[in-house]
Amino acid sequence: MAIVVFKDDNIRVKVPVGMSLRQAAMKTGASIVFGCRVGDCTECASHVSEGMILLSDKTEKELKALEMIESDIADLRLMCQCTVRCEEGEIVISQQF
Ligand code: FES
Repeated sequence: MAIVVFKDDNIRVKVPVGMSLRQAAMKTGASIVFGCRVGDCTECASHVSEGMILLSDKTEKELKALEMIESDIADLRLMCQCTVRCEEGEIVISQQF
């Protein structure tokens, strides 16, 4: 299992491959803000400061949604649209912009 760190809340949790970061946030009570939960509203956009490679690739839908809120989206993800894809490593997330 990968380790997900919700930096804003000082939460560390082991997350299995295939689990979305939305599920991980909900499970742990992390303070990530969610709206639509289907990739449309961008409320859940968060910075991934470590471990981006451990997450599923951005879909076209996610890319378009993120480009509407920021020009540099290299470290941005929608928490409702990405899942853990590696067994090992650490993913560090913050919703502070
Ligand atoms: S909750 Fe709306 S895009 Fe994630």
